[in-house]
Amino acid sequence: MSRFDPHSHFDTDQPRTHRLALEIAVDFERQRVAGKARLDLGGPSSGPLDLDTKGLTIAAAATGAGAPIPFALGAEDPILGRRLRLDLPAHTAQVVITYETAPEAVGLQWLAPEQTAGKRHPFMFTQFQPIHARSMIPCQDTPIVRAPYRAAVTVPEGLTAVMSAGPSEAKAGGGGGRTLEFTMPQPVPSYLIALAVGDLTSRDLSPRSRVWAEHATADAAAYEFAGIEEMIHAAEQLFGPYEWDRYDMLVLPPSFPYGGMENPRMTFLTPTVLAGDRSLVDLVAHELAHSWTGNLVTNATMDHFWLNEGFTVWAERRILEALHGGEAAALGWAIGQNALDESLARFPADSPFTVLRTHLEGVDPDEVYSSIPYEKGARFVATLESAVGRERFDRFMRRYMDRFRFTSITTEEFVMFLEVELPGVAKRVDADAWLHRPGMPAGAPVFRSARLDALRVLAQGWAGGARPDPSETAGWNANELLLYLQHLPRPLDESSCRWLDARFALTRQGNYEILVEWLTIAAASDYEPVFPRIREVLTSVGRMKYLRPLYGALAGHPRTRRLAREVFDEAASGYHNLSRRVVESVMEKYVEG
Ligand code: BES
Ligand code: ZN
Repeated sequence: MSRFDPHSHFDTDQPRTHRLALEIAVDFERQRVAGKARLDLGGPSSGPLDLDTKGLTIAAAATGAGAPIPFALGAEDPILGRRLRLDLPAHTAQVVITYETAPEAVGLQWLAPEQTAGKRHPFMFTQFQPIHARSMIPCQDTPIVRAPYRAAVTVPEGLTAVMSAGPSEAKAGGGGGRTLEFTMPQPVPSYLIALAVGDLTSRDLSPRSRVWAEHATADAAAYEFAGIEEMIHAAEQLFGPYEWDRYDMLVLPPSFPYGGMENPRMTFLTPTVLAGDRSLVDLVAHELAHSWTGNLVTNATMDHFWLNEGFTVWAERRILEALHGGEAAALGWAIGQNALDESLARFPADSPFTVLRTHLEGVDPDEVYSSIPYEKGARFVATLESAVGRERFDRFMRRYMDRFRFTSITTEEFVMFLEVELPGVAKRVDADAWLHRPGMPAGAPVFRSARLDALRVLAQGWAGGARPDPSETAGWNANELLLYLQHLPRPLDESSCRWLDARFALTRQGNYEILVEWLTIAAASDYEPVFPRIREVLTSVGRMKYLRPLYGALAGHPRTRRLAREVFDEAASGYHNLSRRVVESVMEKYVEG
């Protein structure tokens, strides 16, 4: 027996999934997905085959020819779920598992019609990264295993399904439903399988891109992402041809727990990116960049997650620079610095969770999710870039992606490749410190720009009476305003809050980054006039990035601790499982008062 991924029962001595086929039905009444998963093993095998499951009920297992396969479910592990061990008879090349999911499956969220924009139809979506595919599919749920997949998905009449796969073909389904067929011809890890079902429609943005959304949000989405083709083009100039055929996007209902998820061919996005002025499309640059860093070259396990996110944040800022110039990219780095500082403050100085190459055996990756792999990772990549110069580094990146395309790799493999391609550089930048030691290395790059310095000085001068002049702020873009707010001292007194809100119309902001930064300042300052707006946001939006600071600010103040609890009790049933857990852990830090 030889296990490689601390978050999977996958055994490297056993056959691997070469191809996956799903035949499933989505049952909104019972909040279950039920059907069959067929795993092709790439050739005849026998003996044990260990799969991951979480909350699945297994009805049967059989070979491709229909012979029953003995199976047993192991004990429940709170992080991993239950091992499903199949005992393959001689010459088994395919296994077919008949199963259904649990209503509380962590990888799925079921929304009642009231929780959607249209209010008339239910909605369901998946979020499988990091280790939740096993709650919908019995599989080798580790990124080391990659397989093309097909799916036939039966949904209720009147609803549409999308997946992280090629465009669908609709067939009339049995029993009153509609069956849609999807094909993902390229080998992908299980965490990149994705499904959403709802009353969806789409708008074409370019020959290879369209955006899907509920009817009520489709036009707003089409406006926001109109520039997508230009962005894809910029990314291709930097990183080589886009390999996934189509780049479609899906705007989810507001409870989506992340900002975006790079499901191949179908990026999933929070509706909070629909600012109305395209000021949050940076987020799409990030998910698009994953088409190279993450989806083409993938982290082998969550211990190498920085390979996905660090490279992607770096790539995202290169795209921004290509589209909007160096000043815009510098603001991106500065906003990232803020997130990094907050994450560094969340963990003790010697925490094993602030290293890049982690050892997460026994640790739930959702519990330690932070900006460290993103922003520390991106700074490490930028350090390598400046050590060898941009031209040489860009050539290195092309070779890296070429060498490892459609594979999943470890930090150690990356370091070996780096040493072969750019000998001596790892030592020169002290890659060991970046990868294996907590906190930030002494020589970490700090991104500066004149704009940034001016904004910081202005914000930090608040207590001394510095106030931005309207003539000056009129020209600020969204990120400039965000940075200004981020650098203000806090708490602020009531008249300061009133002044800020009046000057920047903050409570009415359509840009959620700015809105939530403001509401967090206001909550920490016990500024009552915005409490109704805070309650509105917390009861409608489930994005963890926004719940964490808002609940933290409310619960952190003795006067609003009860309010935090009250709002949470009202909102919790609408939150995704993961969001609920994050809020609970934020509130646990404060005693009830
Ligand atoms: N792949 C991540 C989201 C993710 C990571 C989900 C780990 C589950 C586990 C995605 O690409 C991401 O990083 N999204 C960010 C936005 C980005 C602009 C930093 C988010 O959701 O905030
Ligand atoms: Zn990402």
